[in-house]
Amino acid sequence: MAFSFNFQIDPKDIGNDIDNFGISTSCENQANKSKSIGLISDKSSGQLKELSLELDELPVCEDDVVTSVQLLKGSTDPNASVSYYCPEEVSLWAKANDLMPVDSEQSTDLVSGVYEGGLQLWECSEDLATWLLDKAELQPGLRVMELGCGAGLPGLSCLRRHRPVKVAFQDFNPEVLRAWTMPNCRLNLADLARPPQLEFLAGSWAGLAAWEAARGAFDLVLTAETIYNPDYYQQLHDALSHLLAPDGVALVAAKVSYFGVGGSESLFCDFLDRRGQFSHSTAMRTESAALARVILELRRRR
Ligand SMILES: C[S@@+](CC[C@H](N)C(=O)[O-])C[C@H]1O[C@@H](n2cnc3c(N)ncnc32)[C@H](O)[C@@H]1O
Repeated sequence: MAFSFNFQIDPKDIGNDIDNFGISTSCENQANKSKSIGLISDKSSGQLKELSLELDELPVCEDDVVTSVQLLKGSTDPNASVSYYCPEEVSLWAKANDLMPVDSEQSTDLVSGVYEGGLQLWECSEDLATWLLDKAELQPGLRVMELGCGAGLPGLSCLRRHRPVKVAFQDFNPEVLRAWTMPNCRLNLADLARPPQLEFLAGSWAGLAAWEAARGAFDLVLTAETIYNPDYYQQLHDALSHLLAPDGVALVAAKVSYFGVGGSESLFCDFLDRRGQFSHSTAMRTESAALARVILELRRRR
C-alpha cells in the first residue's frame, strides 16, 4: 500500500525560501548544466559558509578505481531507479586521494567526533531509500533534507521518484560529501529533465541551529543510522526542531538496538517524549530477530 503524507505547501513560500538562501529561482527549470548548488561547511571556521558550484562541476570518482555502480534494491522502474558507487571502491579511492577522515592507524569504521561512518553503507539507509522508492506517495515540490547522509540513498530516492524542489544533504565529514554523496548525485541527475536544487552541508548538527535561513525550511527530513549514540540525541533533536517546517515530517530509520554503542529506538523515543516537541509513530518495522529495524515518523506536536 502506498504511504502518503499531507503536506501543506504554498509555492510562494518555496520561492521565498530559495531567495533567502541567495540562490536564483530562475535556475529551477533549466537543464543540468546551469543549475547552482550551495556548499556549506563549518569544518574549518566553525561558521556556516556557502559556496556555489554548477551541477556539471559536481565531482565524480576517478574511473580507474571506482568502476562499479550498484542499483538500490527495489529500483524496478528504470525512470526512478537509484544508483550509487560501490562503497568499498569509494573507500579505497578516498584513502588514495586523502579524503579519508581518519588516518590509516585509526579504525575506518567510526571514530566518535572525528569520523561518523559516512563512507560505509548501513542497512537502514537502504531500508529508508527502498521504502521511499516503493511505498511512499509524496507530492511534488517538497523541500527535503537528509541528515547524516553518507551515500545519500534516501535523498536520492526522493530526487528520483518524488520530484522535490530541493534536496539538501548533510554529513559530519566534508570528505564524505566530496568522495561519495556528490558523485552519487551526479550519477542520478544525468537523465533527469528537471533536477531539483541541491545543497550540501558538512559539520556537526550543533552548527545547524546557526543556519538562520533554514529555520523551518524543510517539509521532509530524512535520516538513517543516526541514533546509535545517545550523546548526540540533543543535537539531533535540536537540528530536527530547527529545520522542520510546521507541518513537516521527519523519517528516522534505525536499528531497534545498537549493541555496544548504547543507542536504541526506545532510548531515542523516550528522549523525544521527555522533550515533548515531537510525536512519533512507526512507518515500518522489520522483525528479523538478528537485526530488528524500524522507520519512525516524527511530527511536531500541536
Ligand atoms: C553510521 S553513519 C550513517 C550514514 C548513512 N546515513 C547510512 O545509513 O549509510 C552516521 C552518519 O551520521 C552523521 N552524524 C553522526 N553524528 C553526527 C553529529 N553529531 N553531527 C552531524 N552529523 C553526525 C554522520 O554524517 C554519519 O555519516
